[in-house]
Amino acid sequence: MLSKRALCIQNMQENEHIFACPICSQHVRVGNEGSVVCTSKHSFDIAKQGYINFITKPVQSMYSKELFEARHDIISSGLYDELQTRLAELAVGTHLLDTGCGEGSHLARIAAKKSSAIGVGIDIAKEGIVAAAKFHPGFIWCVGDLAKSPYHEESFDAIFNILSPANYDEFRRLLKPEGKVIKVVPHEGYLKELRQQVFANSEKESYSNEQTVVRFQESFSNVEVERLTYTKQLPQELVPKLLAMTPMGWHIEKKSEIVLTEITVDVMILTGRSE
Ligand SMILES: C[S@@+](CC[C@H](N)C(=O)[O-])C[C@H]1O[C@@H](n2cnc3c(N)ncnc32)[C@H](O)[C@@H]1O
Ligand SMILES: [Zn+2]
Repeated sequence: MLSKRALCIQNMQENEHIFACPICSQHVRVGNEGSVVCTSKHSFDIAKQGYINFITKPVQSMYSKELFEARHDIISSGLYDELQTRLAELAVGTHLLDTGCGEGSHLARIAAKKSSAIGVGIDIAKEGIVAAAKFHPGFIWCVGDLAKSPYHEESFDAIFNILSPANYDEFRRLLKPEGKVIKVVPHEGYLKELRQQVFANSEKESYSNEQTVVRFQESFSNVEVERLTYTKQLPQELVPKLLAMTPMGWHIEKKSEIVLTEITVDVMILTGRSE
């Protein structure tokens, strides 16, 4: 069986044409031994855990290994199954990029619903990508900054941006002409049972997506907006995981006093095309 590093090298070689140097935008070559070098000789490392690091200077992230492992447990419990099913229906083509992919479970579970998908995930947090490579070998996991993304223009059929910061100029550059951008933003009921306990009677309890939708409409064509809402039972043992997976949970002093029996997913899904 191939090691995780060898599998990553193989996947990158097969898809070498999508990679561009994040420093000089030139083409990169992926050698059999795992050297990744651009035409101007900038070089990047493929880690033994099976991911590639395109960031030359370390970046301080607010997200920890514990947060990503908690997200993994919550996503594995099936809380986002309905969302992933819808995202797989909306996706087109084979080359899928998840921007701000975190620990990779959304992309892995969406790709599993598509035939011959090639899944690429990028996140600036190394801890997220390390977790993604650990949980989901067989995808191309990249530590990288969306502002200097390591891909050539027109490389992807579908670009996901799930509960993460976006870079619309970059999404337009990376989309194939027929490609689709698919963005998920939390809506007013998202994790409301948790928010009601954390921010009871405070202004933080409600927010609006109006500005996000307007900016998205200004940036893409053929924009469609839909809302997906559902509530699921939350097994008791997952409550600490839910508190650990979102910055909201960090504000709670007496975590043991939080009682949650069900939890709501309420999101807006925005889709658009680059032209
Ligand atoms: C709230 S988390 C969501 C992670 C994942 N999409 C999920 O739903 O579980 C936001 C993610 O965006 C990533 N991120 C923030 N800025 C980024 C950037 N400039 N480039 C790449 N990723 C970024 C963070 O590191 C973090 O993993
Ligand atoms: Zn270069």
